[in-house]
Amino acid sequence: MRNRIKILSLPTLVLFTLVGFYFYNAESSDQGPTQPVRFSHKIHATEDQIPCEYCHSFVDVSPIPGIPSVKKCMGCHSQIAGRDVDYDFDGTTINIKNEIAKVREYWANKEPIPWVKVNSQPGYVHFTHKRHIKRGFECAQCHGDVAQMDQVHEVNKMNMGFCIQCHTQNAKDEAELTHLKDCLTCHY
Ligand code: HEC
Ligand code: HEC
Ligand code: HEC
Ligand code: HEC
Ligand code: HEC
Repeated sequence: MRNRIKILSLPTLVLFTLVGFYFYNAESSDQGPTQPVRFSHKIHATEDQIPCEYCHSFVDVSPIPGIPSVKKCMGCHSQIAGRDVDYDFDGTTINIKNEIAKVREYWANKEPIPWVKVNSQPGYVHFTHKRHIKRGFECAQCHGDVAQMDQVHEVNKMNMGFCIQCHTQNAKDEAELTHLKDCLTCHY
């Protein structure tokens, strides 16, 4: 009996490890990309209280809020070299000072930081931030609580149902409802 348990336990262990690994991967794929610089929104937006619009400055005037340039980062990081302390970035240990050194290196080499996009709509979808921000929606309604994230990741799958559900709930009258559900409002 004892032997049988021993024999069974090895494949069982392997199986559990594989299953565990599968689930671990399934989960971590929702944790956003591994960026060239481990930039923490939690540190910048919450601890340092930098407003979203300071970095994503075109959010209320143009369709694309944009990712800040290295120049914008250097506005602070030419002064702030960072503390020589470790930080747990979503389970990966980084050193604050070393991570900031990477930003300074891009700047010295006159290279942009090759950020990987987190959200993207297919080319046939028309989306504009401007109208949504003007209407008073918070970033978090679509993006989740980015201020509490180290790596920003997708919280909502922003598919057609997601858009139309909100358009239906927020239309102020029948005319606007018709417009906001019109295929040509989002596709052309
Ligand atoms: C100090 C500058 C800075 C501040 C402040 C900041 N961000 Fe960002 N944000 C970035 C950078 C750099 C990236 C690209 C790196 C990344 O994806 O992590 C980014 C990426 C994002 C993305 C993903 C973009 C994509 O690729 O789809 C979202 C969404 C976002 N920020 C929302 C916010 C919100 C909401 C706030 C305020 C709570 C905020 N950001 C504050 C610099 C900033
Ligand atoms: C308004 C000032 C300000 C701006 C703008 C700014 N930072 Fe920071 N950043 C800070 C401060 C303050 C810290 C914390 C330093 C410390 O704890 O020693 C920090 C920490 C960091 C760190 C280490 C912690 C982490 O997030 O992993 C990195 C990397 C970093 N910044 C990258 C950037 C990048 C890239 C940009 C431009 C997109 C940027 N910063 C823009 C103020 C700023
Ligand atoms: C109504 C939903 C909605 C709201 C509200 C919203 N966003 Fe977005 N955001 C999106 C969608 C959808 C995309 C992807 C757009 C695309 O790929 O064309 C996006 C993309 C982004 C990007 C990446 C842009 C790029 O250049 O790649 C950033 C940064 C961002 N949002 C920041 C913000 C910030 C900051 C706020 C609040 C001031 C905000 N968003 C409010 C839906 C929203
Ligand atoms: C949080 C609610 C909400 C979500 C989510 C949302 N929208 Fe909207 N959207 C609105 C409202 C309300 C308006 C009307 C804004 C106004 O004009 O005052 C609007 C307006 C628009 C407009 C401008 C319409 C025009 O008159 O030209 C477009 C385009 C649009 N949305 C596309 C999208 C797409 C694409 C998505 C999904 C990726 C989306 N929206 C997600 C609430 C939302
Ligand atoms: C409020 C915005 C919005 C409206 C209105 C809208 N769509 Fe879409 N549609 C989207 C978005 C966003 C996607 C991309 C979905 C994704 O990435 O999963 C999409 C995707 C699609 C696709 C690709 C399907 C797929 O699964 O890949 C088709 C076809 C489509 N829409 C047709 C329509 C038609 C027909 C109408 C009118 C009855 C319409 N849409 C109205 C936002 C909208």
